[in-house]
Amino acid sequence: MKIQIINGPNLNLLGTREKNIYGDESFDNYFKNLKSKFDKLDLYYFQSNIEGEIIQKIQEVGFEFDGIIINAAAYTHTSVGIGDAIRSITCPCVEVHISNTYSREEFRHKSYLSPYVKGVVLGFGLKSYDLALQSFL
Ligand code: DQA
Repeated sequence: MKIQIINGPNLNLLGTREKNIYGDESFDNYFKNLKSKFDKLDLYYFQSNIEGEIIQKIQEVGFEFDGIIINAAAYTHTSVGIGDAIRSITCPCVEVHISNTYSREEFRHKSYLSPYVKGVVLGFGLKSYDLALQSFL
């Protein structure tokens, strides 16, 4: 089973960025452990700070892979384009957030992705990605 994880802007800074909110583990380290934990799955990881590159990746894998796990980060709250890309593809998509966006500023309560995804996992730190992966098993 092929699953693509897509992370949006500033998530390359996990481990150094706002540790009180996002924790102190880098995503590369977390991903290494995730791959060994789910060794029956074919896991792929892509991160970009650029909206168009994220849309490109969704289009690239979205008709071929078995699933996408996406944390579009700040673009979650602004991007009609990423929402449209998700509604255009055929593979199921799970939206993930590290923090509980509903306990934060009001602008983080709106998601342009949520209407088009299979489900949303948020607020469990990096474990949110584990939980999203389990939904594909
Ligand atoms: C985030 C929440 C977003 O509001 C924020 O812009 C992020 C990360 C999360 O994983 O908690 O960059 O998506």
